[in-house]
Amino acid sequence: MRVLVTGGAGYIGSHTLLELMAQGHEVCVLDNYSNATPQVLTRVRALSNGELGDVTGDVRDASTLDNLMQDFRPDAVIHFAGLKAVGESARKPLAYYDVNISGTLALLNAMSRAGCNKIVFSSSATVYGEPRYLPYDETHPTNPMSVYGRTKLMAEQILTDWAAADAPRGAVLLRYFNPVGAHASGDLGEDPRDIPNNLMPFIAQVAVGKRDALAVFGDDYDTPDGTGLRDYIHVVDLARAHVAALDYAQRHTGARPFNIGTGQNYSVFDMVKAFERASGRKIPTQVTSRRPGDVAAMLADASRANAEMGWQATHDLNDMAASTWAWQSKNPDGYGADS
Ligand code: NAD
Ligand code: UFG
Repeated sequence: MRVLVTGGAGYIGSHTLLELMAQGHEVCVLDNYSNATPQVLTRVRALSNGELGDVTGDVRDASTLDNLMQDFRPDAVIHFAGLKAVGESARKPLAYYDVNISGTLALLNAMSRAGCNKIVFSSSATVYGEPRYLPYDETHPTNPMSVYGRTKLMAEQILTDWAAADAPRGAVLLRYFNPVGAHASGDLGEDPRDIPNNLMPFIAQVAVGKRDALAVFGDDYDTPDGTGLRDYIHVVDLARAHVAALDYAQRHTGARPFNIGTGQNYSVFDMVKAFERASGRKIPTQVTSRRPGDVAAMLADASRANAEMGWQATHDLNDMAASTWAWQSKNPDGYGADS
C-alpha cells in the first residue's frame, strides 16, 4: 500500500516508518520539522535500507497536499502531525486549534479531492478525562480537561463525520496511552527540544547527568506507593498498532476508536527502579507537590484492538527502560549530537 505519513519525522512517526517499510508498504513523509529534524529520516533510511519519500511542508497547506496527492497517490494516510504539550496548549490555544484542527481539515479536504478514503489518526487517552471507572474502555464518556485534549476529541468527531458522509471512507482513531521507549538499535528515540514534560525522557536525562534529580509530582495519591499510575506503551508496539490499523481500515468503513495500551500500569517509582536496573545508574528523586491536571491513575482496556485488529503489546517494562537507555546513552544530546 502507498501510505502518506504526516509528522513522520517525529517520535512516534519515525518508529512507525520502520514498521511500515518492514511490511513492504511504500511510504512518503510530510513534515514541517517544527518539532523534529530531517536527520531522523536519514537514520530511518539507514536502519531500513529502504526507499522513503519525503516532502517538507505544512499539513495546513492545501497546495502542498494537493501536489502530494497527485504525485504520490496514497491509498491511505497516517496523521501524526500536530502539537502535543498539554501545558503549552493552555497558553497558546489558537496555535493548538490551528495546527490540530485546521491541519486535520486541510488534510481531509485534500484526501476528499483526491479520492483517498482511509486514515489512521493519532488520538490520545486524554480524551476520556477524569476516570469514572478503570480500565477505560472505548465507551467510557469523553471529557478532556485541556485544550490539547479538546483538539483531539474535536478531530475525532470531524473524522467520524467525514467517514460517515461517503460509503468507502474509513477512519481508525488510535487513543494512545503513555508512549515510551525507543528503537532497540538506540538510533531512534524521543528528543524533547526543551525541559522534558514527560516522565521517561526526564528520567533518561537525569541518568546521563543532564539534570540533577527527578521531581516526583506528588506521593499522596490513592495508589499503592502514592505516586501516579500510568499505562506505558512501548513505542515499537504502538508503531505496530498503526500497521494493524491500516489493515483494519482497508477492510472497514466508518470511524472506530481503539485504545492502545498494555492493560497494566506502573507508578513513578516503578519507572525509576526499572530505569536504574537498565542503566546501572542511580536516579535521584525529590518529591514535590502534585502537578495540576494530573489524575491518580490511568489504565487501558485494549481488548477491542486485540479482538478486532489482532494487535497486542509484546514489550514489557524492562524493554521500555532498556531501549530508552540505549537511545539516551548513545545520543546524550538527542539528534543534535549528529547534525
Ligand atoms: P512529535 O512532536 O515528535 O511528532 C509530531 C511531528 O509532526 C513532528 O515531526 C513535527 O515536526 C510535525 N508537525 C507538527 N506540526 C506540523 C505541521 N503543521 N505540518 C507538518 N508537520 C508538523 O510528537 P509524537 O510524540 O510523535 O506524537 C505524534 C502524534 O501523536 C501527535 O499528534 C500527538 O498529539 C499524538 N500523541 C502523542 C502522545 C505522546 O505522549 N507522545 C500521546 C498521545 C497522542
Ligand atoms: N511525573 C513526575 N515527574 C515528572 C514528569 C511526570 O512525577 O517530571 C509523573 C506524573 O505526575 C504522572 C506520570 O509521571 O504521574 C506520567 O507523567 P507524564 O507527563 O509522562 O504523562 P501524563 O500521563 O501526564 O501525560 C500523558 C501524555 C499526554 C496526555 C496526558 C493526559 O503524555 O499527551 O497523558 O493524561 F495528554
